[in-house]
Amino acid sequence: MQDIIRQLDAKRVQARLGGGQRRIDAQHARGKLTARERIDLLLDPGSFEEWDMFVEHRCHDFGMDETRVPGDGVVIGQGTINGRLVFLFSQDFTVFGGSLSMAHAEKICKIMDKAMKVGAPVIGLNDSGGARIQEGVDSLAGYAEVFQRNVLSSGVVPQISMIMGPCAGGAVYSPAMTDFIFMVEDSSNMFVTGPEVVKTVTHEEVTAEELGGAMTHTGTSGVADLSFANDVEALLSLRRFMDFLPSSNREDPPFKPTEDPFNRMEMSLDTLIPDNPNKPYDMRELLEKVVDEHDFFEIAPRYAQNMIIGFGRMEGRTVGFVANQPMVLAGCLDIDSARKGARFVRFCDAFNIPIVTFVDVPGFMPGVSQEYGGIIKHGAKLLYAYAEATVPKITVITRKAYGGAYVVMASKHLRGDLNYAWPSAEIAVMGPKGAVEIIFRKDLDDPEKIAQRTEEYRSHFANPFVAGARGFIDDVIMPHGTRKRLCKSLAMLRGKKLENPWRKHGNIPL
Ligand code: COA
Repeated sequence: MQDIIRQLDAKRVQARLGGGQRRIDAQHARGKLTARERIDLLLDPGSFEEWDMFVEHRCHDFGMDETRVPGDGVVIGQGTINGRLVFLFSQDFTVFGGSLSMAHAEKICKIMDKAMKVGAPVIGLNDSGGARIQEGVDSLAGYAEVFQRNVLSSGVVPQISMIMGPCAGGAVYSPAMTDFIFMVEDSSNMFVTGPEVVKTVTHEEVTAEELGGAMTHTGTSGVADLSFANDVEALLSLRRFMDFLPSSNREDPPFKPTEDPFNRMEMSLDTLIPDNPNKPYDMRELLEKVVDEHDFFEIAPRYAQNMIIGFGRMEGRTVGFVANQPMVLAGCLDIDSARKGARFVRFCDAFNIPIVTFVDVPGFMPGVSQEYGGIIKHGAKLLYAYAEATVPKITVITRKAYGGAYVVMASKHLRGDLNYAWPSAEIAVMGPKGAVEIIFRKDLDDPEKIAQRTEEYRSHFANPFVAGARGFIDDVIMPHGTRKRLCKSLAMLRGKKLENPWRKHGNIPL
């Protein structure tokens, strides 16, 4: 018995050393933590239960039977974040470069299966050289098993990927199918084909950082949602982020007690909208002023900045916020912002998170590149996402709500539960100038007439009352009371039940 216990201890020590001190030092020299150090930072102290520490690969080719490392390059298990259960895997770059063998994949699949059964999120800390080259097709089969589970878990439990090292080739498709991708700046990258292959095939010269670093994916491609300066900041922010999410689609969002009164008045909001309708203002200010304790967790702040998305809490309960940002492209909807908003709305709907939408949108972005890029299909994604969502939906029009964009942005017509407008709201088919130039084209050479017509149009439509008279707007509310109205509406809607007709699945425009 003593012998076995000694053997067990020795095996544990060996497993904890991963690829050995030299490789651990190399990992640290790059400013990266090891797989286990990352877990220690992410989870509540002492909560981690590790599984499959003794799993080894089963490859005999290329001298692999001589090199077996317990754990095979990935640490898996369960733990808690602020007391709530999560499952996670953390790839160990010090063991075969964190590359994925069949055994390594089976470990990841084990926690994914368990997470689905018990209803808890899966967090992946990715740091891997990709498919274990020595294993060939076994390794590819391993990826496929993970991908299949990513798809089956989608909308059942939240899946979060934190990219903390390389993630290349087929390996990118597991994170790609998770709900959120976060990256660590300078030490992580993601690409389907690396700079060498790019150079050979397209003759483009690009560094790994330029091709798939955190700045590229959070700013240009939109593949990643957030980036962090280093491992420590990334993992601590992930702890804060997880507090907003329900554990599964069977649960309501978590409750965090707050001292912030539901009826807190924000008088400064009464002067947020400038007198000149063409002058921008910062929509973020409104978001920060209405949520509990001004704690707004923005997602994808560097990508499609004309649309703001993120989580906040109202009376302690998580709410998803979607808002046009007049500071960027006047808050127009375009391809990128529609995709960004649509995916977020679908996440909220899948996980029972109510959606509050703030609208100030002059319309869809015109242009050849938008049309060639398929704005019709991409814009339809946002429309589709709002229309199919059955969670509580509350909308506040702060200023412009023009044309098709008015309909898309969680209007009453898409089953909006409560649709409010500030007194500054303008709800019309288009802005006064454009409208008059079309319907009074014959008067175009008479500036006086045009000015008069524009004024008539403005006084008729540049207000919330026409929509209000039809019941498309439930009430015109004072900006300073927005938090109170939202809190009361969300409380009323807590018991909302709405189901879409049965179908295998819809066919969202892709
Ligand atoms: N399969 C097996 N072993 C791998 C591996 C893989 N896919 N990727 C890395 N490794 C091993 C290396 O052989 C090395 O082993 P060693 O410590 O015993 O020498 C160790 O992991 C570290 O790799 P190294 O290349 O020294 O690290 P690096 O930081 O310089 O480069 C990568 C990292 C990921 C850019 C580089 O390893 C790489 O290009 N790997 C292959 C990527 C790939 O094409 N994967 C298959 C397609 S999905």
